[in-house]
Amino acid sequence: MRPSGLAVVTLSAVLIGVSLWPVNDVQVFSAQRQESGPYTLALPHGVLEPIIPEDNPLTEGKVALGRTLYFDKRLSLDDTVSCATCHNPKFGFADGKKVAEGIQQKKGVRNSPTTLNTAFLDAQFWDGRAPTLEEQAKGPLVNPVEMGMPSHDALVTKLRTIPTYRRGFQEVFGTAELTIDQLAKAIAAFERTLNTFNSPFDRFIAGDKTALSPSAQRGWELFQGKARCITCHEFNASYPFFTDNKFHNIGVAMKDVNFEALARKAAIETDVAGLAHESGAAELGRYLVTKQPRDIGAFKTPGLRNIALTAPYMHDGSEASLKSMIEFYDKGGVPNPNLDGGIRPLGLSEQEREDLIELLKALTSDDLPSLVKELERRGDR
Ligand code: HEC
Ligand code: HEC
Repeated sequence: MRPSGLAVVTLSAVLIGVSLWPVNDVQVFSAQRQESGPYTLALPHGVLEPIIPEDNPLTEGKVALGRTLYFDKRLSLDDTVSCATCHNPKFGFADGKKVAEGIQQKKGVRNSPTTLNTAFLDAQFWDGRAPTLEEQAKGPLVNPVEMGMPSHDALVTKLRTIPTYRRGFQEVFGTAELTIDQLAKAIAAFERTLNTFNSPFDRFIAGDKTALSPSAQRGWELFQGKARCITCHEFNASYPFFTDNKFHNIGVAMKDVNFEALARKAAIETDVAGLAHESGAAELGRYLVTKQPRDIGAFKTPGLRNIALTAPYMHDGSEASLKSMIEFYDKGGVPNPNLDGGIRPLGLSEQEREDLIELLKALTSDDLPSLVKELERRGDR
């Protein structure tokens, strides 16, 4: 690498010489582009690259801009809520709450999932209604109980008055516009860097048989066998995220809701995001997107990395702990006409339930503390 480093030094010396001549805008812009070169994701050997939209390549500059936006409360109506309020590095990039709390302590109806490793998901949200991180990022900004901006236009107008953003967007996107699509692209680019591996479980899979306690090792056997977890929380070396990216009804939503009436109403409603935030209708899950009766009460299989950090669990935050999670599965979920065939009583002993919990605890990345520290060091709010 040394020789090419020297070459760069020589080249920039030449450029300094050249810059004595008048420079036009195009030259200045391309120099900035060089400063903010491509951002390379550091993935463990064998893990497949996440799909990155062609019109939103990762660059250092864009990731940095997205990071600033992610932590900036000025993206909300009253400057009190940022993406990080609900996807907080200190809570495993979730919020530790049953359901999300946005501006003026307004409560939503669903639990905040982690933003870690979301680059690898086929679809975003519990019902998968957003196909990309770009699309997803536009939702909370204008959700009345999340960040509460009256419109994307209002947000863009607000950000254009902030000189550092005017400059930052210009540098990254090369135009003076500052649009909502650019904002979504920058945030999505930052999120794509929030990937964590290096858990005790990963080291065990890589061959270090001492990385897991005997109890967690028994838990892994149960996970793949008697407890049947792996049928939905899929795991393999190229896609090690513990999800099949599919939607299942495991009974969580089956409370005192009149599903028939709700489904009839939702069948003709096109505002999916609106319904997803409406108490009652939100429980229809994947049905809101597909309008297929078999999807009533089905939700996306969540990944399980860092799961010990993000209680409470489930789309509605109804399970307080890993212990209650395992009890939920042990008794066979909540019976209902749409219950997924993979869910049935498991007959686990107390020791077996304990072993599964030990496994889930071993999915926490050892790299997280340094990631959190790094974000703090940069002074993100
Ligand atoms: C008030 C809390 C709140 C705020 C603020 C918020 N989110 Fe979320 N986020 C949620 C909730 C709740 C969900 C799940 C909603 C659903 O499924 O309908 C979610 C879902 C997501 C997902 C999907 C993850 C998955 O596994 O499907 C991503 C990614 C995400 N948010 C990123 C962001 C970004 C980026 C911002 C800022 C622009 C943001 N969120 C602001 C609460 C919040
Ligand atoms: C039939 C598919 C299926 C099987 C089998 C299954 N899960 Fe799940 N799991 C899901 C779905 C779907 C959700 C989300 C449900 C909801 O919120 O309505 C979920 C949620 C979870 C969550 C909460 C995640 C979060 O972020 O809130 C944990 C933990 C979990 N499962 C662990 C397990 C374990 C351990 C097993 C085996 C005992 C298991 N699952 C078996 C599909 C499955």
